[in-house]
Amino acid sequence: MRINKYLALCGLSSRRNSEIFVREGKVKINGRTVTDLSTDVKDTDIVTVNNERLLPTEEHIYIMLNKPKGYVCTTSDELGRKTVLQLLGSKYEGKRIFPIGRLDYDTEGLLLLTTDGDVANRIMHPKSEVPKTYVAKIEGEITEAELAKLRGGVILDGVKTKKCKVRLKDFTDNISRVEVVITEGRNRQVRRMFDSINREVVFLKRVAIGELKLGGLYRGTSRELNAKEIEYLKKV
Ligand code: URA
Repeated sequence: MRINKYLALCGLSSRRNSEIFVREGKVKINGRTVTDLSTDVKDTDIVTVNNERLLPTEEHIYIMLNKPKGYVCTTSDELGRKTVLQLLGSKYEGKRIFPIGRLDYDTEGLLLLTTDGDVANRIMHPKSEVPKTYVAKIEGEITEAELAKLRGGVILDGVKTKKCKVRLKDFTDNISRVEVVITEGRNRQVRRMFDSINREVVFLKRVAIGELKLGGLYRGTSRELNAKEIEYLKKV
C-alpha cells in the first residue's frame, strides 16, 4: 500500500495532507526517513511519524460539531487562535482527529471531524459533489434577479461557479435569509458569490452536508455520528 494511503488509514490526516508529512521528512519506515511518495508499506514494516509509531486503526471516530464563529478549522494555529479541536473536550485528547474541510473563522455551523482519512478524502474530493447547505443573511431585500445570477454561476478567480440551488427563505427586519446549496468547496465560496453581485454576507451558517443535518445541536457542542450516518458517509 502507498505510504500516503497507509498514513491516512492510520488516521494521521487526509491522504493529501499525509503527503506533506512525507515531503517534510517526518515519516520513517523501519527507522529510515522516506520522502518518496511512491514508497510502498508492507505489513511487517514499522512506520513512525515524528518518531511515534503508527498502526492502522479500524475504530475510527466521526463527530458532528456546531462550530461557533471565532474558531479556526485547523489542528493548530500559528496565530494562536482557538481551534475547533478545543471544543471537543478531554475525551478526545490524543486522538488524531481532524476536520473534514473547513469553515471560515467567521462562519458557523456543521463541521464534521474524524480520524478516518479515507472518508475525509472522499467527501472533500471535488468529484464527490456532496451538496453543502448554507443559510446566509444579507442586509436589505435581495431580488429574484440577483438570486438567479447566483444560481446560474458567477465568476470567481476567472472560473465560473457550478449551477447551484439558491432560494429566499424570508425577509424580516431588513435582513434577507437566503438558502444556498453548493456542490463545490472553493475558498470562501458563498461569501465571494454574494460579493460578486455586490452583496455582503453578514452571517453565514452551514446547516447540512449531504444527508447529515445540524438539527438542534447547540452552538459550540458536538456529538458522535450514529451508525446510519456513518454508513451514509462511507458511501458518499
Ligand atoms: N463559503 C464561505 O464563504 N465560507 C465558508 O466557511 C464556507 C463556504
